[in-house]
Amino acid sequence: MSAVIVAEHLLRRLEGEVPVTLIDDVSLSIDRGEFVCVMGPSGSGKSSLLYLLGLLDIPTAGRILLDGEDTSRYQEDELANRRLEKLGFVFQFHFLLAEFTVLENVVLPMRRLGRLDEAAQRARGSELLERLGVADQGGKRPSQLSGGQRQRVAIARALANDPLVVLADEPTGNLDSAAAANVREILRTLTRDLGKTVVAVTHDAAFAAAADRCIGLVDGRIRAGWQGPAARPASASPGPASVSPDAPAPAGDVP
Ligand SMILES: Nc1ncnc2c1ncn2[C@@H]1O[C@H](COP(=O)(O)OP(=O)(O)OP(=O)(O)O)[C@@H](O)[C@H]1O
Ligand SMILES: [Mg+2]
Repeated sequence: MSAVIVAEHLLRRLEGEVPVTLIDDVSLSIDRGEFVCVMGPSGSGKSSLLYLLGLLDIPTAGRILLDGEDTSRYQEDELANRRLEKLGFVFQFHFLLAEFTVLENVVLPMRRLGRLDEAAQRARGSELLERLGVADQGGKRPSQLSGGQRQRVAIARALANDPLVVLADEPTGNLDSAAAANVREILRTLTRDLGKTVVAVTHDAAFAAAADRCIGLVDGRIRAGWQGPAARPASASPGPASVSPDAPAPAGDVP
């Protein structure tokens, strides 16, 4: 399998009176079609890492290769283009725009990319809503949907420009268990049926079972990982600097 995201020695530091290190020498490689979860205690740097991998933030040192391209050379407009073309985002709070209909929300990234004409954008938007099981909600405003429906619309929006990678930050964090299971299964299906790569930050242990691999973060460093539905949970002791797909599953308990 080919790597779609490679991170090399990422460092993210906030300078100030008291400097804060958010991400500390993180290296990892994620293959096309993988479903990877990122877990760790609150404040361990999961969101910070996702923002770096999603080109929403810039590392203090280190670099990210996205689809074989070194993104460290890009200016902000090129980073924005790569985000629009190659990445889709799903957040805990859906961030759908209240003043637009559901369908318009899904069409917006296509409009920004400008590859399809308006009719094709709407047709693709409707197809995506259908795929996500919310075809009949397209004319409503986001506020008229349930939390689970809104998150499915957010996933449809993330898929609008047919990205290589979907990055999700606690996508089930705000949902009841049934809606969470549904969203988890949808994300799993994206990798299995559409060949997308999914990287999901989560506190939800069920993700560990559904994911191909989990990356554990503690204090901004990779500390433990495990992979596969039958994988054994991570050890409490410091683990490898990065988790290779060939590494044996460590022993311990899923956090
Ligand atoms: N702008 C900032 N200024 C100072 N500290 C920050 C800033 N942003 C993040 N941090 C700190 O960086 C660390 C990592 O934050 P991050 O949001 O990545 O954690 P997280 O693992 O996503 O946590 P959670 O599970 O609670 O969402 C935390 O200790 C946080 O307080
Ligand atoms: Mg977070």
